[in-house]
Amino acid sequence: MLDDAAATTLRARAREATANAYVPYSRFPVGAALLTEDGTIVAGANIENASFGLTCCAERTAVFAAVAAGHRVITAIAVTAPRVETVTPCGACRQVLNEFKPADADMLVLLDGPEQEIVPLRDLLPRAFGPRDLDE
Ligand code: THU
Repeated sequence: MLDDAAATTLRARAREATANAYVPYSRFPVGAALLTEDGTIVAGANIENASFGLTCCAERTAVFAAVAAGHRVITAIAVTAPRVETVTPCGACRQVLNEFKPADADMLVLLDGPEQEIVPLRDLLPRAFGPRDLDE
């Protein structure tokens, strides 16, 4: 559950984060802002590299910053890309997000756009392989 106020804040923080995108190659800024279980918001932007394959998406930048700061449970994430109406997380980011969803609920993914959409991660990554699949 992501109430309207939280969704608006998350979307605003994702939009702000696009200002820090490092995108000299694609010129396609993306911003993300995630919400942890204790209410912390952590933002990220995409960071490209002259060795193109080393680019890190906005979503993973935000997740890694949150995890490096000690967070382990992400309840929601907003994603935005000013050059297009709606952007949706790439496959690699979906898998990384899956690692940190709550144990008893799904992570909510807010896709910015004219029709703001909030979708559960399971709709983006059905039958996901996750940490619990390593249990015997
Ligand atoms: N990108 C993201 O940051 N997140 C997405 O969800 C899709 C793609 C970035 C990667 C690259 O820097 C640029 O957008 C173009 O693919």
